[in-house]
Amino acid sequence: MAKTLFNITGRVALITGSARGLGFAMARALGEFGARLALFDMDNTGLQSAAKTLSTDGFEVLTLQGDVTNINDVTKCVKNIINKYNSLDIVVNNAGIVYTTPAEDMSLKEWQHLIDVNLTGVFLVSQAAGRQMIKQKSGNIINIASMSGIIANFPHPQCSYNASKAGVISLTKSLASEWAHHNIRVNSISPGYMNTELAATVAKKTRLHSTMA
Ligand SMILES: NC(=O)c1ccc[n+]([C@@H]2O[C@H](COP(=O)([O-])OP(=O)(O)OC[C@H]3O[C@@H](n4cnc5c(N)ncnc54)[C@H](O)[C@@H]3O)[C@@H](O)[C@H]2O)c1
Repeated sequence: MAKTLFNITGRVALITGSARGLGFAMARALGEFGARLALFDMDNTGLQSAAKTLSTDGFEVLTLQGDVTNINDVTKCVKNIINKYNSLDIVVNNAGIVYTTPAEDMSLKEWQHLIDVNLTGVFLVSQAAGRQMIKQKSGNIINIASMSGIIANFPHPQCSYNASKAGVISLTKSLASEWAHHNIRVNSISPGYMNTELAATVAKKTRLHSTMA
């Protein structure tokens, strides 16, 4: 039933940060519903291993190594997808990082790096994909925000992460309203805790920082 209702056979899906964690799981799920996959990640070893697993399981996979903060990598990524598949139908903006540093100790460099990856990266990938989707007159962009974009989890010292995810939620609304007339849908998802390397890092470092531990 679900497979019929959500059939996306032949659609081309780009998933950023798909070498592991939620990105890898979402790539597999999209493949299970029929999508042709484009995996994008800065970790080339993880990327090749993820691609091997998915192609062994019968999915069509293209791997693209790059950094979502690098406009040249992002432009090249979309170009390579179009060269191979001739369209780009679905984008999951999933790549993200977290720093668990108390606000009073955070350096400007660390703050800016997190905003670059979690917010500017979503903008750059959406812009490059959006230009193609405008030409196609269709597309679907899904941004992975977080419940931390709506609430401040306590006692986690992760103000830059929370601010970036609030930004992702706001950016999503802006792009959705700007691009609706091009037949492009833009939505965000705000997961709670998922057992990944990112969440494990937060749990470990929060215990170190917390006076409640
Ligand atoms: N795990 C959770 O509990 C949770 C909860 C809410 C939201 N999220 C969000 O889900 C997304 C995925 O998180 P996860 O837990 O799977 O993390 P993860 O650390 O397991 O995986 C993140 C992936 O993104 C890649 N990546 C990081 N920076 C990149 C960059 N600049 N360019 C390209 N790739 C990059 C990493 O190499 C890695 O493969 C993130 O946006 C995260 O904020 C996670």
